[in-house]
This record gives sequence, C-alpha cells and structure tokens, in this order.
Amino acid sequence: MYANSKIPESAQPGVHEHLIERVAKHARSDFRKPYLDYNKAAFEASLAGWDGKAPLILDAGCGVGHSTIQLARAHPEHWVIGVDQSEDRLSRKKPYPDALLPKNMVFARADLVDYWRLMADAGIRLDRHYILYPNPWPKIGHLARRWHAHPVFPFVPRLGGRLECRSNWHIYVEEFALAIGLLTGREVGWEPFEAPSPLTPFERKYRDSGQTLYRCVVELDSQPKLEENPS
Ligand SMILES: C[S@@+](CC[C@H](N)C(=O)[O-])C[C@H]1O[C@@H](n2cnc3c(N)ncnc32)[C@H](O)[C@@H]1O
Repeated sequence: MYANSKIPESAQPGVHEHLIERVAKHARSDFRKPYLDYNKAAFEASLAGWDGKAPLILDAGCGVGHSTIQLARAHPEHWVIGVDQSEDRLSRKKPYPDALLPKNMVFARADLVDYWRLMADAGIRLDRHYILYPNPWPKIGHLARRWHAHPVFPFVPRLGGRLECRSNWHIYVEEFALAIGLLTGREVGWEPFEAPSPLTPFERKYRDSGQTLYRCVVELDSQPKLEENPS
C-alpha cells in the first residue's frame, strides 16, 4: 500500500547524548580521506556545463532527481546539480520526456563525502543547498551515519548560501540545526512545515501518510553570528 509509510522509530528520546562532542571533534580535526577518482570525475563533469557565473543550487542526495528538476524549473537563472550515489535512482525514468528536461541542471553520480569536500576545496559557494529526506539512521548506535555527525559535515556550512534540510523525523532536524549552530556560531532553528506541492517522492509519500514534516533552514551568508562575549 502506498500512503502507509512509518515515522522512524528510535529508542533515542531527543538529541543524541554524544552529538555535541562528536560535532566538536569533527570541527577540530582535518578530514583528509583521499578522493576517489570517480568522485573527482563526477565533480568536474557536474561543473562542465556551468558558465562559472550562474548561482549554484546543490540537491544533495537527490534520489530519483524529481526535486532537482523542480528546482531547475523554478530557478532558470541557476545551475542546479543533483548528486546521488545511486546510479539506479538517478537513471530512473523522469516525469518529463528528455526533450522537456531543463537545460540548467545536471545529475552527478558521486559520494557526497567526497563531493562536498571537492566543492569546498575548489572555493565554490552555493546560493541554495538542499538535503532532502536524508536516510535518518534512527538507531542510537548509528549516530555517525547521520550527516550532521559525520566527519564531512564541517564542509557543508563552508559552502554557504541558504541551506535547508527536511525530514519526517524531528530529532534528525533538531540535531542538524544544533550541529550547524555549533559549527557556525549562529542561532539555528527548525520547524514543522506543510508541503502542498511536494518537492520529492519521499516528501509526497510522508505527506500522504499524514506525517508531520520538519525542516531546518539557515541563511549562512547573511545571518549575524552570535556574540561571543555578550555583555
Ligand atoms: C531517503 S533517500 C531521499 C532521496 C530524495 N532526496 C527524496 O527525498 O526523495 C536518501 C538518498 O541519499 C542518497 N545517499 C545516501 N548516502 C549518500 C552519499 N554518501 N552520497 C550520495 N548520496 C547518498 C541515497 O542514495 C538516497 O537516494
């Protein structure tokens, strides 16, 4: 049955007890895992059609890419990149004939652990950055698999722009907001929201199952930092 998707079940009642120390450790360390060639090639190919001037949108973990297409249609002046590690998902049939697909977008089959770092190392700045319905990894022992507790995460806010994460598991979004706040020294909130026109298949499925959706949105380039020594 279609609209019977479940909210992630977890023994974790709130923010993971080790999240803060994990994020602080990653912020201090230099994550130097060597890049794999296929990620480097995918990174370069994803920028080959970019004129170097159009503002960039990254749809990180785009799955079948419907959100990438919608974003490219909504932002015709932007270059939109949908990245996913799954060739199977990326190559699934799109809801438009090829001839009608927007020309200002590209899909890249790559591991975000390399892709995000390649972007940051190249000094690239994003205008918008979406992390939509990442795998929640709700088991307590799986903290390190959630993006915000992964060693690559400090590279994510370095890319700048308007960063948005969405999930149907409120703890994921709460942790994400806390981690971004720790890394940037900003007050970062999160909230439930409605999705009258779902951006992704997961969003549609969760919404149609009657679930509450949550998001964290942070303007990394404009929001003032918290004062370090408030008087
Ligand atoms: C739950 S799906 C959500 C897909 C899409 N954003 C949506 O909402 O329909 C999570 C996606 O993240 C991708 N993913 C997970 N780890 C990844 C990684 N290390 N690099 C790139 N993509 C990854 C998976 O292949 C999957 O397509």
